[in-house]
Amino acid sequence: MPSLIKERIKDMRRMGFKLKADDVYSDKKASLKDAVMQFGGGCTGEFISPEGLLLTNHHCGYASIQKLSSVEHDYLTDGYWAKSRSEELHVPGLTISLLERMEDVTDRIAAGESKEEIIAQASKGKGCRASIEPMYYGNQHYLFVYRVYKDVRLVGAPPSSIGKFGGDTDNWIWPRHTGDFSMFRVYADANNEPADYSADNVPYRPKRYLPISTKGVKEGDFTMIYGFPGNTQEYVTADAVEYVTNISNPMKIALRTTRLDIISEAQSKDVATRIAYAAKHANIANAWKKWQGESLGLERLGTVAKKATYEQEFATWAADKPQYATLLDSMHTAYEKAIPGYFARELFNETIAGIDVLNFALWLNSQHEKGVKLTADVQNVGRKYYLGDYRVEIDKAIAKQMIGEYVARIPATEIPAQLTAAIDSYGGVEPFVDGLYNGTQLITKYPLTHDEIFADPMVQLAVWFAPQVAKNSNYAYRNLSNVPSVEKWYREYMQALREWDKERAFYPDANFTLRVAYGTVTGYENVDGEYHTHLTTLDGIMAKDNPEIYDYNIPQTLRDIYARKDYGRWSIEKGGKSTIPVCFLASNHTSGGNSGSPVINGKGELIGINFDRTWRSTMSDIEFDPDICRNISVDIRYVMFVIDRIGGASYLFEEMDLR
Ligand code: ARG
Ligand code: ASP
Repeated sequence: MPSLIKERIKDMRRMGFKLKADDVYSDKKASLKDAVMQFGGGCTGEFISPEGLLLTNHHCGYASIQKLSSVEHDYLTDGYWAKSRSEELHVPGLTISLLERMEDVTDRIAAGESKEEIIAQASKGKGCRASIEPMYYGNQHYLFVYRVYKDVRLVGAPPSSIGKFGGDTDNWIWPRHTGDFSMFRVYADANNEPADYSADNVPYRPKRYLPISTKGVKEGDFTMIYGFPGNTQEYVTADAVEYVTNISNPMKIALRTTRLDIISEAQSKDVATRIAYAAKHANIANAWKKWQGESLGLERLGTVAKKATYEQEFATWAADKPQYATLLDSMHTAYEKAIPGYFARELFNETIAGIDVLNFALWLNSQHEKGVKLTADVQNVGRKYYLGDYRVEIDKAIAKQMIGEYVARIPATEIPAQLTAAIDSYGGVEPFVDGLYNGTQLITKYPLTHDEIFADPMVQLAVWFAPQVAKNSNYAYRNLSNVPSVEKWYREYMQALREWDKERAFYPDANFTLRVAYGTVTGYENVDGEYHTHLTTLDGIMAKDNPEIYDYNIPQTLRDIYARKDYGRWSIEKGGKSTIPVCFLASNHTSGGNSGSPVINGKGELIGINFDRTWRSTMSDIEFDPDICRNISVDIRYVMFVIDRIGGASYLFEEMDLR
């Protein structure tokens, strides 16, 4: 944790880090943390200029770039480069959060202060947002205070044929050649404070920004990742891992395969549909592929068996300690009780909640239940969110499959009785779904009266699901192990582990709060006898280039530059020839949410942007294996090359600190 970095700074310095602990994190003076932000809801970004210019991944900016695109202005396909500040495009709804400070408030809470009070106090200040997050399953609590900036504008993005090069084919794979970056700028009011979008806003002046190293990386170099990793489960028992590998992953993978097949087919037939469903497809496919690698990786590592052995050793130690002797049994029982409910929620999310118009109906009903009047404005909010970029034929095909899968996979007693009866009376799921889509006005008519809404068959279905939705909310936790009836045992288990396993370096699981990871630039042995080196280059892009294959069809400009070897200051020598570095590997422990994170060298300079892990690393949220797990970053020199040679936007270098 950044505020505890003192505990690790010696080790970091031994590995080549030159800065001090309070250069990494301080709440008194400017530190590296002030250059790092949470970008949107689930990514990381970093400032690279004193005027609010930031870098994140292309896949993190993807939904924003899509939102600004149309068939005439297809910035996803063609890229976008503002030629001056006035051409920077405001992205409605996009925010970035800057961490002001973090504080261990465990003692304050123990002394009787309420979390609500602490949060209310901390969120005074313009644009402030505060939250208290549990660490070690609630053994500790930390307060995080953020400033949220709402005027964020797109500055530049490469064409998808660079930013998403390799697409879902290469996703989670090394060797990798993706130029996965995009650029935005944060705007503030005249006092440098958060403000709603206004043409009068001025570029935000960050307390700290990252200089850019143009020297490059070599094997063994120190690297550090600063960002917002989302989810690790380092300490879970064998039961939790078995749930993932035997029950959860197989179900989720199968259902997403079905949805992806439907979407891909529709996309292949129509350009507008390809754009409209691009972000949805990428989102569904990303976790779908990761879970497959994760299951393989856990199998390979024998994680379940290893955990079981560890637990046996623990049990032996705990046997004569009354407070811990029955702990593992209690945990086991708690899992058995929690699994059906947790599974039901996951299944619901992968099936029912994969149907857009039904989601809209569920949302309308939940708003109504909360006492919100379903005015035209309210309906419009929901329509925009659930039915923006929508194709009814795709949704209906998905509904047929997903409702079918839901009733097939859930215990019959959990299926709403009205749904069972309706399917029977129609003579099957398919005709029932046809009836549903023929009957609903949610897609075709706006605004609807209150009576029309609640007579609508889609909303009726949502109402039938209301009891299940309510049950699901009891299981709405990041992981099975965070369900309160399970988690309460983990509080004791964590205490016990720290008493017993004294050698282990403990750190709280990732939970979308700011963290530091460090490691070195390094390749890995992929399979016996096959070493994967740490750096890829433009030559690898050219080897993959193929105009016939969507994921590998590079822009003609890049072909021309390659033919002329017109690399300017960005070229390197490899094997006696000049080329451009593209991506590199390092041994940092990262997770989802670390996308867009700065990769920083020993001198505190930016050397890359993190965006992925290798196939052999996909289990690292559950077991991180330092021998094999590698994070993938786009080399900052490739980023600069693309801005310069492809984007023609080298004017942006003037505000950067290129070293
Ligand atoms: N696998 C990376 C992450 O989890 C990148 C995902 C975006 N790329 C893609 N081809 N879908 O977010
Ligand atoms: N690609 C991930 C992200 O979007 C990072 C990872 O899972 O390694 O955060």
